[in-house]
Amino acid sequence: MSSAEIRPATAADLPAVTEIYEHAVLYGTATFELIPPDLGEMSRRFKALMDGGFPYLVAMRDGTVAGYAYAGPYRPRPAYRFTVENSVYLRPSIHRRGIGLHLMLRLIGECEARGYRQMIAVIGDSANAGSIGVHTKTGFRMIGTHPDVGLKFGRWLDTVMMQRPLGEGATTIPTS
Ligand SMILES: CC(C)(COP(=O)(O)OP(=O)(O)OC[C@H]1O[C@@H](n2cnc3c(N)ncnc32)[C@H](O)[C@@H]1OP(=O)(O)O)[C@@H](O)C(=O)NCCC(=O)NCCS
Repeated sequence: MSSAEIRPATAADLPAVTEIYEHAVLYGTATFELIPPDLGEMSRRFKALMDGGFPYLVAMRDGTVAGYAYAGPYRPRPAYRFTVENSVYLRPSIHRRGIGLHLMLRLIGECEARGYRQMIAVIGDSANAGSIGVHTKTGFRMIGTHPDVGLKFGRWLDTVMMQRPLGEGATTIPTS
């Protein structure tokens, strides 16, 4: 198990979150963004998620933000209101120590507590073994691959769709 403490993110965590995501945008294929969003933009995104009541978590290790995870709307049309899409990013230096798993399990619990019924991961790059691995380990199943839908670093990239039911999933109809 990881030695990280997981807690809700605050605005004070956003400079570290911005730095972690900047690295993923500049050097990774998990995200299809090409230009790293600055602190102002990350703060706007954070506020929109907070205003929508979505969970946004950070993993703290040795007093610093080691990673973060959040859930947000999957798609804006209202029939999708019980479905969320998740994101999880760690500092590269602390991969494969159980922190991604720990963040994801807590995020799933937070979404279940809020009554969401499905979580969807849209994983950039079918070569992203870490992300596919952590989603598989947290109960997601493979839905399929959209081949060659992204162009980054001069090459075509797939997205991998994975999905996990939350709480009662599709076995009941929510009353609200
Ligand atoms: C994806 C990511 C969050 C995973 O977090 P992590 O802390 O490195 O992963 P964990 O140590 O918690 O791994 C949990 C399980 O996932 C699987 N896994 C993790 N990394 C893996 C890898 N590189 N290859 C295969 N399986 C892997 C394993 O089953 C692992 O359990 P094990 O170590 O007991 O075998 C992290 O690697 C990351 O930030 N990657 C870059 C950004 C990214 O891809 N984000 C996801 C966007 S959709």
